[in-house]
Amino acid sequence: MSLPVLQINKLDKHFGGLHVTRQVAMDLHAGERVALIGPNGAGKTTLVNLISGVLKPDAGSIQLLGKDVTHESQAHRVQAGLVRTFQITTLAQHLPVQRQIELALFEREGLTARAWKPMDAYPALTQEALSILDALGLLPFAALPTERLAYGEQRLLEMGLALALRPQVLLLDEPMAGVPKADGARMLAALKSLSASLAVLIIEHDMDLVFSFAQRIIVLAEGQVLASGTPDQIRHDPRVKEAYLGQSA
Ligand SMILES: Nc1ncnc2c1ncn2[C@@H]1O[C@H](COP(=O)(O)OP(=O)(O)OP(=O)(O)O)[C@@H](O)[C@H]1O
Ligand SMILES: [Mg+2]
Repeated sequence: MSLPVLQINKLDKHFGGLHVTRQVAMDLHAGERVALIGPNGAGKTTLVNLISGVLKPDAGSIQLLGKDVTHESQAHRVQAGLVRTFQITTLAQHLPVQRQIELALFEREGLTARAWKPMDAYPALTQEALSILDALGLLPFAALPTERLAYGEQRLLEMGLALALRPQVLLLDEPMAGVPKADGARMLAALKSLSASLAVLIIEHDMDLVFSFAQRIIVLAEGQVLASGTPDQIRHDPRVKEAYLGQSA
């Protein structure tokens, strides 16, 4: 198999006396769809925060496309192809929908400092923003302030912001959380239409989505990898049933 695009090696994180991440190791290859599941408080978001650079690990290392990024900033990791979305929505509510995507495109192109040039100076970026919105079914809302979107639509827009950065590794922290059923179908369609070469790590409590989307599932419990395997292996793993799936079954 090819080299992993993301390699996590024995990551450790404490919050005071609380040992939240324990020797976590995992690999992600180009095009892989991996789900990270586990009970509330297992340390899933903390792990994404460590991988994306929001938090610094106490020990261990993170390699992105073969380079050690353990001590690099979040911005550097984004430039290098690692993009994440947040469990809770973080959009600027007053900005028009299209403008949000355009700003992400500017950031990707290193144009942020000149962001106040008239938009028609960048027709290719405008076009790209519109096509991202179109793919997510958000084109009718392009000119509206973000606050006018329903919550599920805002989560789709966040996915659009992440995709605008053209990631090679995408970390999704509960993209379906709080999304009503009607928009859930659109989110699922968006997930299924992600580029085949993109590596995706998704945290999700919706087990229907996890088992239909993931090729591999990693189970985290009390900060440790409890199990890792195909959906079938995980479904039938007695330790996983006891630690997590048993609760929802
Ligand atoms: N900044 C912090 N300071 C102190 N403790 C924290 C901090 N962030 C998280 N924790 C604790 O670390 C543990 C893991 O939290 P984390 O948010 O990573 O869990 P999670 O698996 O994402 O849970 P959920 O499924 O509810 O989102 C919890 O006990 C949480 O209270
Ligand atoms: Mg979480």
